Amino acid sequence: MARVVWGLATSHVPSIGAAMDNHKTEDPYWKPLFDGYEPARRWLAEHKPDVAVIVYNDHANSIDLDMVPTFAIGTAESYAVADEGWGRRPVPPVKGAPELSEHLVTELIDSSFDITTIHRLDVDHGLTVPLSVAYPDPGQAWPCAVVPVLVNVIQYPQPTAARCYALGKALGRAIRSFPQDLKVAVFGTGGMSHQLAGARAGLINERFDRMFLEAVEGDPEALAALSREDYVREAGTEGIELIMWLVMRGALSDKILRVHDTYHVPASNTAAALALFEDLGDGEGAPA
Ligand code: DHB
Ligand code: FE
Repeated sequence: MARVVWGLATSHVPSIGAAMDNHKTEDPYWKPLFDGYEPARRWLAEHKPDVAVIVYNDHANSIDLDMVPTFAIGTAESYAVADEGWGRRPVPPVKGAPELSEHLVTELIDSSFDITTIHRLDVDHGLTVPLSVAYPDPGQAWPCAVVPVLVNVIQYPQPTAARCYALGKALGRAIRSFPQDLKVAVFGTGGMSHQLAGARAGLINERFDRMFLEAVEGDPEALAALSREDYVREAGTEGIELIMWLVMRGALSDKILRVHDTYHVPASNTAAALALFEDLGDGEGAPA
């Protein structure tokens, strides 16, 4: 049977990818951020999964605002890297895991999460930057296949944090019921506090971010109890991306070990963080 082996939460700021693509990671602006990733990257290089389930949001690059699914899963054989206006990032295409994708769609729909199925999808910075954070030197191919799980965090009303946490639990159960013997990692992407436009553009709330970084390990229920308005008020209009970390946390078991975390302000307009958890569970998910 498949196992969930670790969970990684990370910001997905586009300029983190651009700094890597343009060899600027040693520049004074970027070096502290990338130094903070180092212990996690060393651990991840030793713990490669077969498949990464990456919970992310498309930023109107592949899914325009004509039709916005609340929750969706990609089921393709492969995913092209999206051109977001500056050409495609010079990173490998993303290999899919269609059998696992189809299994997750079926299991989640049977668990009353009415998932949209996406058969063709270009993946934007929301997915490729987290892959680069984990695997800075992929060469010709990423080290694992990917199942994209998409969450609407850009158009009101976003799903509640409680629903995202519940989705994560159902996702963890669905992964563990896949009959192939696969090591599966789960990424939760986006955050931490940031707001890109409007009167509060540039908002950073370190107090809230540090509370969230702590609670995502030991008290995710408290984070799931916050309303979408709480997230927007405390973390900003784009900081609500943090609800995707709760999908990742829900998929892990109760027994997790924090391998590493780091918090850095700013990366572009964002409070950037990474938190890596090994799943020590016995194959059981957290209680429903
Ligand atoms: C930035 C952050 C994001 O999460 C994003 O999707 C786009 C831009 C930023 O801080 O520049
Ligand atoms: Fe984003």
